[in-house]
Amino acid sequence: MPPKTDFSNIGFADFQRMASDSKLSRYEKIGFPDTYREGQEEEIFLDICAKLTNLSGKARRVVDIGPGCSDLPFLLIDLCARNQHALSLLDGKEMLSQLPDSEDIQKIDTLFPNCPSFLAEEKGRIDAILCYSVLHYVFEEGSVFRFLDEALSLLAPGGQLLIGDIPNISKRKRFFASDTGADFHRAFMKTDDAPDVRFNVSNPGQIDDAAIFGLLQRARSAGFDAYVVPQSPKLPMANRREDILIVRP
Ligand SMILES: C[S@@+](CC[C@H](N)C(=O)[O-])C[C@H]1O[C@@H](n2cnc3c(N)ncnc32)[C@H](O)[C@@H]1O
Repeated sequence: MPPKTDFSNIGFADFQRMASDSKLSRYEKIGFPDTYREGQEEEIFLDICAKLTNLSGKARRVVDIGPGCSDLPFLLIDLCARNQHALSLLDGKEMLSQLPDSEDIQKIDTLFPNCPSFLAEEKGRIDAILCYSVLHYVFEEGSVFRFLDEALSLLAPGGQLLIGDIPNISKRKRFFASDTGADFHRAFMKTDDAPDVRFNVSNPGQIDDAAIFGLLQRARSAGFDAYVVPQSPKLPMANRREDILIVRP
């Protein structure tokens, strides 16, 4: 059966349209075929909590930039309620309307960082920021450095920013150029052919090692500790995606 939607080349406006499309599953609304996320998001959330350790504290200030509307934001909302965290969800209006309302949840309709009041009010106050599977859309549509600078400005001392699930084309190529990756490709594509991997070519619009290390260096130069961290091998795209964890000392 052909896919219900083409998930390539989608942007912020498409996400808002998809959020309101009742024919799409909640995974498809956030741009994933069901097979990539259904039954996997508890494991993804465990991996997030292992990195954003401030989430296990009590009464902290938490932000999710681009929460979408599948299982992950519901898991975060539950955890924040249990731990008495104040939670702010930043996404488009249509996407946010798929999530529950509560007096402990602030919804901000924005294409981050175009939210000057929120940035001014919350500057230096946030203990944990989650931004999961979002950076590649910013890379195509906006400025990742402005996005990073403004996200960093929100962090309180000891605050953590997880920019997670970053598709890194360099990591993808390293994987598919390996014997393990070639076997994975043959099994997944049901073919005897090796994957077509090309180095030393430009990859317009794609995040690569240079972009990842540029973000790390930018954060470190601004006085933050910044690390590239692997995903749990149990996650569906751990062989070609990775996370950035930034901590304000
Ligand atoms: C692929 S979905 C990921 C959703 C969720 N974080 C997850 O991993 O399940 C990307 C989400 O980020 C939102 N988004 C993209 N760019 C954004 C931005 N600059 N500011 C706020 N939300 C953004 C989209 O509307 C969409 O809901």
